Amino acid sequence: MAARSRGWCVVLGMGLVLAAAVVRAVVVTGDDDAGLSLDLHAASCPQLEGIVRTAVQAARAQDVQVTAGLLRIFFHDCLPQGCDASILLDPEKRTGPNARGPRALQLIEDIRAKVHARCGPTVSCADIIALATRDAVSLAGGPSFAMPQGRTDSLSPATSGEIALLPSPFSDVNTLLAAFSRRGLADPADLVALSGGHTVGKAGCSSIRGNDDFSRRIAALCARTSSRKQSLDIITPDAFDNRYFVAVKKARGVLLSDHVLAGDQRTARFVTAFATNQTAFFQQFAKSLVKLGNIRGAAGEIRNNCFRRNNARVVSLSLSLSLDDDIINNPLADE
Ligand code: HEM
Ligand SMILES: *[C@@H]1O[C@H](CO)[C@@H](O)[C@H](O)[C@H]1NC(C)=O
Repeated sequence: MAARSRGWCVVLGMGLVLAAAVVRAVVVTGDDDAGLSLDLHAASCPQLEGIVRTAVQAARAQDVQVTAGLLRIFFHDCLPQGCDASILLDPEKRTGPNARGPRALQLIEDIRAKVHARCGPTVSCADIIALATRDAVSLAGGPSFAMPQGRTDSLSPATSGEIALLPSPFSDVNTLLAAFSRRGLADPADLVALSGGHTVGKAGCSSIRGNDDFSRRIAALCARTSSRKQSLDIITPDAFDNRYFVAVKKARGVLLSDHVLAGDQRTARFVTAFATNQTAFFQQFAKSLVKLGNIRGAAGEIRNNCFRRNNARVVSLSLSLSLDDDIINNPLADE
């Protein structure tokens, strides 16, 4: 009898260990490889997702291009040195492909102010970019999906060398695949699906490829009016759908980097899959955008203003002191 009940105890004990393992496994899948989690702000800022969605919706009601602006900001923030809102810092926000000062940067800071007013400084600008972009996609007709949270904001902008990791619109497939691979987006499906971000938004005339009749014609039309821009998806310019891939498959891609995706077997099969099946595109896009959002930056902070790091003044002061600057000539010295 005693032996039997000990036996049951062992079974019960094993059962508990097993149950614990199951619970653990569930928790572990809730967190992803980048150490981000789906419910990080659930207790400390339950209003977060509502505030972000309402703000993005209001901004889109004024200007549908907000979706394009946010998508481009998210990509340009994440690829160089991780998703860390460094793109809101000078000089990065005006360097290279960010030269014109991407639109929608102010929207990020406006949302941060609303969120911090409600919840205190608990949510990073980098998390707000990720959430706002996710919402902007679904509000434009794209997929709805969960976006893990827990990024921090960088202490410094990306260097021009890191910004140069963003591929040029005249890149070939090898260059595009390499640029994405070095940041963990090694599956060609990531490159093709994320290029599908071009289903919304516009390019300056000088980015149009111009290597065949179609593209020379749209380049000429574009150049006729100063400051005109060309929609990247010539079929449905503002809707988040799979028509960009239909266009690319018919050699109607606007950028060379769009066009070449249809001509290389590593990427062409995804162009075809997405052009013929929007669900397949949406599923891969959601997966790849979360992956893009997992690119980790160096440890940082939660900024009190997305446009500058906290205590930036103290740092620049001590930096000038350590450089043995004459304190009289330091404009900050007597502030
Ligand atoms: C594959 C490499 C990529 C290249 C070479 C590229 C290049 C470009 C270029 C040259 C423009 C036009 C910019 C201008 O003239 O103002 C542009 C716009 C845009 N890109 Fe990309 N891009 C790439 C990937 C991506 C990714 C991964 C996303 C997001 C998922 C994205 C989203 C956008 C959006 C939404 C616009 C329109 C921006 C607006 O209208 O404000 N791009 N891209
Ligand atoms: C479209 O793609 C989805 C997701 O990959 C798949 O489940 C579905 O079977 C596909 N539909 C067709 C008609 O191939």
